Amino acid sequence: LALHVLNGPNLNLLGEREPDIYGRETLADIQSLCEAAAGDVPVVFRQSNHEGQLVEWIHEARSSARALVINPAAFTHTSIALLDALKTLDIPVVECHLSNPAAREEFRRHSYVSLVATGVISGFGPHGYELAVKAALRLAQERAD
Ligand code: DQA
Repeated sequence: LALHVLNGPNLNLLGEREPDIYGRETLADIQSLCEAAAGDVPVVFRQSNHEGQLVEWIHEARSSARALVINPAAFTHTSIALLDALKTLDIPVVECHLSNPAAREEFRRHSYVSLVATGVISGFGPHGYELAVKAALRLAQERAD
């Protein structure tokens, strides 16, 4: 089973988008970090700007993922559909944000995804994805033991 890493809207523009907040690294750079952090475990790394596509990828994870890392981006704060899809998973789910949403605008302080995430990693930039991958795989391993 693979580790799935899902990325939400506008994260395809990382590197160009608000670099003061999100840094200069691209999503391709982050994918490489995740693959290195996962070691021998295959990584399925995806990004979509469409909520329904993310819902369908979460459904796919039901049968093909050992753990899920998700940066839902703006859908973090809006999407009951992602929340409900994540509720159908029986694997570790790590919510990951480049920035620390709690230190930003008021509307970023609420996360629907946190209601079902096993844990949350925020504010460490691309390094946070490495931490999230490690945490997700460790949790999955602990469950298998
Ligand atoms: C983000 C934080 C969200 O509030 C924002 O909408 C994003 C990116 C992050 O990684 O810091 O698009 O998820």
